[in-house]
Amino acid sequence: MKTELLSVDEKALKKAEALLLSGQVVAFPTETVYGLGAWAFSEEGIRHVYEAKGRPSDNPLIVHVAPGMDLHEIAAEIPEKAKELMKRFWPGPLTLILPKTDKVPLRVTGGLSTVAIRMPSHPAAMELISKTGLPIVAPSANTSGRPSPTSARHVMEDLQGKIPLILDGGDCQVGLESTIVDMTEEIPMILRPGAITLAMLEEAVGEVDVDPAVRMAVGLESHVTPKAPGMKYRHYAPKGYLILTDQGPDQTAEWIRQDLKEKEQKIGLIGSDEWISQVRGALGKVPVAAISLGSGSDMDEIGRNLFDGLRESDDEGLERIYGEAFQRKDLGEAIMNRFLKAASERRISEESKQ
Ligand code: TXA
Ligand code: MG
Repeated sequence: MKTELLSVDEKALKKAEALLLSGQVVAFPTETVYGLGAWAFSEEGIRHVYEAKGRPSDNPLIVHVAPGMDLHEIAAEIPEKAKELMKRFWPGPLTLILPKTDKVPLRVTGGLSTVAIRMPSHPAAMELISKTGLPIVAPSANTSGRPSPTSARHVMEDLQGKIPLILDGGDCQVGLESTIVDMTEEIPMILRPGAITLAMLEEAVGEVDVDPAVRMAVGLESHVTPKAPGMKYRHYAPKGYLILTDQGPDQTAEWIRQDLKEKEQKIGLIGSDEWISQVRGALGKVPVAAISLGSGSDMDEIGRNLFDGLRESDDEGLERIYGEAFQRKDLGEAIMNRFLKAASERRISEESKQ
């Protein structure tokens, strides 16, 4: 199959609509990551989504909606707190889990009685959904297991030849997938951290829990099964051996020297500009590749660049990679959740030395 790459305009949107209506898939930009869209009520479209991604069929999809759409077609019940969160954060990087209607195919929800719903804020996503009037299921448009795509080029890398159309809307602003909040219990629960942070949610609706599995990434509670099925899969991992460290530049430089003494290998750093120059400073003349995620004083930028950085470490052929462990605070929670998964939870820190 030939994959067309088109900038978003009237003609491209028409083409996308025709594909969606005929049970095909279309990749499109959102403010978080690129999505691989299909019409939510097309069994054939949904099947194509799973096939193109190579995604396990028990991993449910998010239904994307636009302003003015009738949510009661999708959610059987919308509690007050959910309404409040929609009012505050939609359109935007927030997904809500609600009880599903009979109309939503079980294939969409992986057999669950609940459904994930999100209203993206990216103009192209909004236009696609509004113009067609179709609720659109869209997982991230990557091959299962790879970092989520934050540019049309990333989608091409993974899905060229497997899907008919990619709408190119430039780089994604947020760069990390949406926050997922389960609204089916009295106290809302974060199942996946994202740009809408715990503090922002609590400010809006009071107490909010965090699924213990979210913290699984620090290796503390690995016996816990996550409530979002997708969170249990290996994810984002680069080909090289990635280890996160919060042990300071001198210690990191020391490990790199040791590694190089043991065997010749392509070692790289991935982290903030500041951290990279500190480690390089500590290494002196020992050369080391580095992938910068931006300034450490701008966590939005770090979040935006993380997935691209992980992909780049593959392109550079890095075999052993030291990553900067960021503070798990605000957006840092989402960044570290993804980064630790990419590192298969390998982390060198004070805690892990106990
Ligand atoms: O930002 C995003 O959310 C992006 C863009 C494209 O909108 N989409 C995205 O979709 O990240 P995906 O499929 O890669 O991740 C969806 C996550 C998975 O972990 C899945 O298990 C979880 O949402 N999920 C979907 N429906 C659920 C449900 N009913 N209950 C619990 N978790 C659910
Ligand atoms: Mg995904």
